[in-house]
Formats: sequence, C-alpha cells, structure tokens
Amino acid sequence: MTAPATSDTLMEDIVGLCKRRGFIFQSSEIYGGYNGFYDYGPLGVELRNNIKQAWWRDFVQCRDDIEGLDSTIIMHPKIWKASGHVDGFSDPMVDCKESKLRYRADQLFFAPVTVNGETIGYVSVVECIDQQEVAEKAAAEMKRKMAKQGELDTIELKEYTEAKPEQYELIPSPATGKPGSLTEPREFKLMFETKVGPLADDAATAYLRPETAQGIFANYKNIVDTGRVKIPFGIAQIGKAFRNEITPRNFIFRSREFEQMEIEYFISPSADWKTLHREWIDTCTDWLVSIGLPREGISEDIHPEDKLAFYSQATTDLMFQFPHGEQELWGIACRSDYDLKQHQEHSGKSMTIFDETTKEKYVPHVIEPSLGVDRTLLAVLSAAYTEDEVPNDKGKVEKRILLKFSPKIAPIKVAVFPLLKNKPELVEVATKLYKKLQRRWNVFYDASGAIGRRYRRQDEIGTPFGITIDFDTIEKDGTVTLRDRDTCEQRRVTEDELIKFLEEQIDG
Ligand code: GAP
Repeated sequence: MTAPATSDTLMEDIVGLCKRRGFIFQSSEIYGGYNGFYDYGPLGVELRNNIKQAWWRDFVQCRDDIEGLDSTIIMHPKIWKASGHVDGFSDPMVDCKESKLRYRADQLFFAPVTVNGETIGYVSVVECIDQQEVAEKAAAEMKRKMAKQGELDTIELKEYTEAKPEQYELIPSPATGKPGSLTEPREFKLMFETKVGPLADDAATAYLRPETAQGIFANYKNIVDTGRVKIPFGIAQIGKAFRNEITPRNFIFRSREFEQMEIEYFISPSADWKTLHREWIDTCTDWLVSIGLPREGISEDIHPEDKLAFYSQATTDLMFQFPHGEQELWGIACRSDYDLKQHQEHSGKSMTIFDETTKEKYVPHVIEPSLGVDRTLLAVLSAAYTEDEVPNDKGKVEKRILLKFSPKIAPIKVAVFPLLKNKPELVEVATKLYKKLQRRWNVFYDASGAIGRRYRRQDEIGTPFGITIDFDTIEKDGTVTLRDRDTCEQRRVTEDELIKFLEEQIDG
C-alpha cells in the first residue's frame, strides 16, 4: 500500500529524512542553529543544482528569446531607492510585550467570541492549516470556563491588520493567551543592511538584494545595447536573495536567505499582455509538472484587482499543496513599465528600445515569472515522499520510505552494486561500469550489506535505478540486473541497452 503525501506528519517526516540522509541541515547547528537559515548537504546540493540546471536549460538554453545574467548581490543603494524597496518593502509586525515573541500581523488572526450575540472575549491564532478549528476550540473553552449559557456564534477570523485600535487591548497574545500584551501593527523593513567601504557612516549603507529582479532591470540597457535581443525577449537570473522575514517558518518554505529563479520578459506596451500572461502561467505549470510535481497539486491564485500593487496590471500565483497547506510557489506578475521607468528617472539613462517590427521607440512592459529554488525543492520533496511496504531479502513484508524523484532531478541517478563484495570478479566488473557511468551522471557505488538493504538505502534518497552485477553477468552473457525504484521490478539488460535506457530516462 502506498501512502499519499498528505499525512499530518509529512513535514516532520521530510525534515527528519533531510537531516538523516544529508539533504538539509539547520545553519550553525553546532551553536544551536540560526533561525531562517539552512545549509544544503551532499544530497541537497545535488538536488538543488539539478532543479536550477533544469530551469536554466528549459528557460534559457532551449529558448531563443531569453538571455542569462548573473548580477551582484550588493548593488548601488540608489537601485533600491528607485525600485521602491527602501521606502516600501516591509511587512506589518506585532510584538508580544510579555513573551517578546514577534508575529506578522497579516499572519495573525483574531475573532470576537460571542454567545447569542453577546461578546465574552477574543481569541487569536497564528496562521496554520487548521486555524479555524483551533480558534473554535479556544472559543468553546472560553465559554466553558466562563460558564456561559447559550449558543456560541460562528467564529469569523480576521487579520490582525484589520483590528481596530480599541480592540488591541482585548485580543489575547497567542503566546500567553492573555489580552493586552500585543502592540499595534507597525511596518518592519525586510531588507538586510550592510556597510560598504572603510567608513561606517550612513553614506556607506548598502543592502543585500531582496530579489534578483532589480539586477535584471539595472542591466537591461547593457543587454539591449550589446546583445542580439529584439522585442519580445527575456532576461533570466538565478541567485541568492535575502529578506529579514519576521517569522521564518515551515522549514525552507520561508527563510531569510534563499534563492530565486526570475525572468523579466520584455514586451511591447501595445502587446496583448493578457494572452502573454496566460501563456506564461501555462508554461510555468507545465515546467513544474516536467520536474515531477503532480498537476493536481498545482492551482492558480488570481490576485483581485483591488489588491494589486499599484504598478501591477495582473498577478497570478501558482499555488502548491505543501505539507503545511496550499501556498504560493511561483508568482507570475505583469509589472507594466514601472521598474524601467523608475530607473530611467532615477539614473537619467534612457530605457527605451527601438522595436524593429513596428519601428517604434518605447519603454517596454514586463511579465515577471518569479520562482524560489528552496520552495521548489520543498515542493519536490513533498511530492516525492512516499511510504509503502515491500518484501525484504527473506520475503518478509517491511515498511519502506522512498523519494519518488523524477530521474531528471534525482541527486543520484544510478547505484551500482556488486552482488558480493568479497568476489573480486564481481567487484572488478561493477567498478568498471561505475567508473564508466560516472563520467556522464552522478552515480553511487555500494558494495556493503545485504542487497535488499542496499536497495532500501537508495530508495530513501530517491535514486531511480539500481544495477546489480551478479554471477550471470560474469559467467554467462554480460547482462546486468536493472531495478526500478518505484515498482522494485528487475530485468536483465545488456550494457548498450542500459546506457540507452538511462539516456532516455535521465536526459529526456
Ligand atoms: N521579483 C518578484 C518577487 O520577488 P515575491 O513573490 O516576493 O516576488 C517570488 O517572490 C518567489 O520567491 C516566491 O514565489 C517564492 O517562491 C520565493 N520566495 C519569496 N520569499 C521567500 C522566502 N522568504 N523564502 C523562500 N522563498 C521565498
């Protein structure tokens, strides 16, 4: 029986597996960890690189209309003034004066508790998958403790940002359960500051970029002037971004140091941007499916017009069913000509382009698909994590944990096993094949332990194929056993058949 990836403990299971098998570690763990920062171990870095390489190949190398870029993390501070980040990139924050804990006001919910229309108190809850249930339980408990007769009215949760000043004193802190210790929301700036140069005065203040996008806008002119681009065209970048998130949460879903894969796709101001936006949403969805995410786990969240940022014409987020609920994975925004016009004004440099087709000169508009590497990796892990039952070497059925990664992004593609490690003839053939495959793919060699245990170790880290060198290989026809991770089925193949099969499965 295969367990679908929806269990309550899925996040815990994934975090445990990531630590146990060397995918992801908490940063600075020997000093007790550092909240919001994660390190990628040997398998994690392979998985991460494979995701980035697949994205780069599909969106940059396999397309004639997109060019790559690698800009610096620290840029001229004026860039962040022009983009609006210095003045506007913040989240509403609330402090609990008693516990000293901090919350994002848009992730903190409250509701009055009313019995037959009479308010008897307030409940609060931090955003979570079952927040309504948590709030209802707290309300029922409040009614019971106060020995109130009558019917509890429906609990209608609202964001703390919507609380009226007279309610601040009445809403309990989620940390202490007591009313009156939460502050009113205030804006908390998300950009990390640093100092550049020998003088640590205000003029030396610079920022770690909170998105890679501005590096693209700042280099747009260089690429237009030196490249072969013509409208419509895109500039793509993969790189680190930093945000001093108030509440980094849910493992690598929201961290303070993360990586983005962003495209700014420049179009004519008179282009049919709605159709192009739709095409980008479909392309991005198909790409997520191509790396192994289930199509049914992906949905679209269209931002309502009255909630759009002032520069945005439309934004649709691709949402994914993460272990902690349905959340944003990929934002696809139509950002108009806002950013280029801002940089034109602040830098004094023209951002116009001459359109060869229409013979017009204009500042292009932009469609921006923006995806987080770490969030993609968490989505991939969530979709791949599976528990089933298979027979062991002695035929006894045992629980098995496996990661059903697509061969395209699996950290290790193939494991090679000599049936016995103390038979030099087997070891020699196995080592030779291992060395040969290693020149093309990331391959693992394992000679120790019972063969079933060796298979299981690879299943748990998502290696899609196992190859066993046995006595038939050396005494009969040279064929090897090829084992499939998901079905455990085995078949004998020649070396040529093996290479052809692996090429098809891994390289596509
Ligand atoms: N340039 C547009 C931009 O940065 P965003 O919605 O703030 O837009 C884009 O971020 C993507 O970056 C998100 O959809 C998510 O995948 C990823 N991302 C944003 N903040 C993150 C964080 N704190 N931790 C991990 N990934 C994050």
